[in-house]
Amino acid sequence: MTTRKFFLLLLAGACADAAWAQRDVALFNEGWAFARFGEQPNGTTMEEPAAQAEAFNDSAWRAVRLPHDWGVESPFLMDVSGTQGRLPFFGVGWYRKRFALPEEDAGRQVFLDIDGAMSDATVWLNGVKVGGRPYGYSSFRVDLTPALHEAGKTNALAVRLDNKRHSARWYPGGGLYRNVWLVKTAPVHVGQWGVWARAATNGAGARVTADVALESCVTDGVPVEVSGTVYELGIGGDGTGGKRVASARPVALTLRGVGRATLEAEIPRVRLWDTDAPNLYRIDVAVKAGGATVDLYPQTFGVRTLEFNPRTGFFLNGRHRQVKGVCMHHDLGALGAAVHRRALERQLEILRSMGCDAIRTSHNPPAPELLELADRMGFLVLDEAFDMWEKAKTRDDYSRFFQAWSERDLADLIRRDRNHPCVFMWSMGNEVNEQNDPVNGVRIGKRLVEIAHREDPTRPTVMGNWRAETMTNGLQEVTDVFGANYLPQFYGEFSKNNPGRGLIGTETASMVSSRGEFFFPVPAGFANPPMPFPEGYDNFQVSAYDVFSQRPNNCAPDVEFMWQRRNPQVFGEFVWTGFDYLGEPSPYEGLPKNMKWQGASDAAKWADFLVKYPGQSPARSSYYGIVDLCGFPKDRYYAYQAHWRPELRMAHILPHWTWPERVGQKIPVHVYTSGDEAELFLNGRSLGRKSKGSEEFRLQWNNVTYEPGEVRVTAYRKGQKWAEDVQKTAGEPSRLEARADRDPIAGDGDDLSYVTVRVLDAHDVLVPRAALMLRFAVKGPVEIAGVCNGDATDLTGFQMPYQRTYNGLCQVVLRGLPGKQGTATLTIRSDDGRLPETTVRIRARQFKR
Ligand code: GAL
Repeated sequence: MTTRKFFLLLLAGACADAAWAQRDVALFNEGWAFARFGEQPNGTTMEEPAAQAEAFNDSAWRAVRLPHDWGVESPFLMDVSGTQGRLPFFGVGWYRKRFALPEEDAGRQVFLDIDGAMSDATVWLNGVKVGGRPYGYSSFRVDLTPALHEAGKTNALAVRLDNKRHSARWYPGGGLYRNVWLVKTAPVHVGQWGVWARAATNGAGARVTADVALESCVTDGVPVEVSGTVYELGIGGDGTGGKRVASARPVALTLRGVGRATLEAEIPRVRLWDTDAPNLYRIDVAVKAGGATVDLYPQTFGVRTLEFNPRTGFFLNGRHRQVKGVCMHHDLGALGAAVHRRALERQLEILRSMGCDAIRTSHNPPAPELLELADRMGFLVLDEAFDMWEKAKTRDDYSRFFQAWSERDLADLIRRDRNHPCVFMWSMGNEVNEQNDPVNGVRIGKRLVEIAHREDPTRPTVMGNWRAETMTNGLQEVTDVFGANYLPQFYGEFSKNNPGRGLIGTETASMVSSRGEFFFPVPAGFANPPMPFPEGYDNFQVSAYDVFSQRPNNCAPDVEFMWQRRNPQVFGEFVWTGFDYLGEPSPYEGLPKNMKWQGASDAAKWADFLVKYPGQSPARSSYYGIVDLCGFPKDRYYAYQAHWRPELRMAHILPHWTWPERVGQKIPVHVYTSGDEAELFLNGRSLGRKSKGSEEFRLQWNNVTYEPGEVRVTAYRKGQKWAEDVQKTAGEPSRLEARADRDPIAGDGDDLSYVTVRVLDAHDVLVPRAALMLRFAVKGPVEIAGVCNGDATDLTGFQMPYQRTYNGLCQVVLRGLPGKQGTATLTIRSDDGRLPETTVRIRARQFKR
């Protein structure tokens, strides 16, 4: 009897027919039926059927493709709080999908891998409950095998999600909002996230260690052999191909149920992963049984060294740096929470060109795609588990599940993400309500840290604390690194008092501003702490001069730069936030008491609204972003770019220079530049040359008297001309310019092209306050995935075929249809018919991204 035949016989007893095919991992996003029950957007309740039943008739349900966010499809609703984005993510959502497996899958193990389901998921197959997960941000696996019908027969999969209205303090989204996969394996296989590859290097070569977790559903012991081959993928490698550079000596064992093997391999000449050269490797782990390879599991990893020295700071590959990070929420603006790889990639591209090199996944586990992109694009990631522990922040939030699930959720996060070279710290939580309850704070924190160390002893833990008392009340000793939210003035003191503990600005700045909005008068000089939010803003916007914040402990970028510079031992900062996000529209969560309705036009604009919704504000997305919800930079972007990219020749003037109502009045001009000096000119006349002091990060000309024309700046570095910028007065709108960021795109239901529409005058100058209603129509193999204008008060739904330009700009997001190709046309016309219609052509192609 051959070994193979013997092994087949062995398997037959336990797993029906043995399936020898290796693992098969495929997206399972198409062909779902969806319906919503429970609490409806209009406040009524819709009774829920027992939709888990195999025979349940879902023919009346809507057909959807995943990732799907049911909240973002809705118009904005004033019945939903602005804090939660005015989009109805709550209620009960059901998804059903029918599928049959082919004959050749008989005997294989079949798993459903859900990258994230918002929230409290329960999964049934053919009426049998097979799994679930309460935490909407956790990735999880469901074993479908026990409930599967025989090959060829239709299976009915059902997923129930239940979002409580008071479960979040921002917009969480609702639905199967991340990718879902069908994974098929042999009965003997590598488990979920079953390879942990890491490497030690002395600079020249690297020693790779890969722990392999194996699973077998064969009752008897199975002799297996595990081996590994290492491939060099190069900079930004996509995980495939590569040059073979090492192999691990095979490890033999007899597998019963679960088992482990540790592989070791030597890379003779290693290329390190760094933010400017993200070199990647892959280890292909092969499992042999009965003489055949029954599983081949590819795992990408990287080699780099991290050193966190409380005295001298953070070193990546031996190079000192302070991370230039931003906090990011998980939503993707007009796409809501529905994950699109391209949307994430574009966010990272925009942030990278500002000089950002790190992301904090505030305040929850991210989509796996974010980490894949961060690995490939060279971003460090502070991977955060929770926003709350046992004490709730909102009534029905994750604290309900924390005691039962936190260990599993944290351990799974780390197992899923620990291969990523981008991840450099694990965050146990953010501003948890146990901060001023040291007994419980220390108890819970220590338990979490133990779990993190058990799952990954190679990276430090951290958590975000905003209460100054956490620097002394015992909480400061819970995590390996102290995370300070808005406490920069204490950096020096903390390091002095805690010589053994490093610290990082887990949350910094928290300035609020609206793109392209400027209000006068502007306080002269530079306030620290920044000015409280002033009265008199009658359009629910915030000035982009970036001297205002909502709370006294927040600060302008400039102030944090100063504290970071004075404290090089600080590992860096994570600005709140990189992008605007849905929900948390501070300072307009309600109508501020001091709001004065004095500006005629804006008062008129909101008059009906205020009568209908007394005391309310329309705002539904944040003002914290350095860039707006569309990804259009606010002026603050250039404050960071000037400081974070000192070698980039740049200068940026604010405000815009179209102020017909302010002729003869003062308009302060601020300039961000990577130069050290600059001279400002108004219509060719010099307004003086200014240089930056050692702790100054912007230049200001506060006494400029407005006249139309142009304001121009010439910046200098060490006396040499360095960069220029100009703002010109715009005339009347004359045309619409529409530009797509990508063409062609893949026709795969996921790839996107972002079209930016700008209102220009006859000389191609952006009309900076243009508010024109535009209508969009598409023909061909793309669909409009969302429209956006970056205005936090705009109540046009994201999925409408029209949108108003906000301060001259708006955006249409086009998505390629799965399996379709050809040329598509987007036509844009202005409602008033005064501007010529404009079109953009996008090609959709079939290619693998
Ligand atoms: C922080 C909090 C963030 C966000 C921010 C707004 O305290 O951690 O999630 O709410 O404030 O300033």
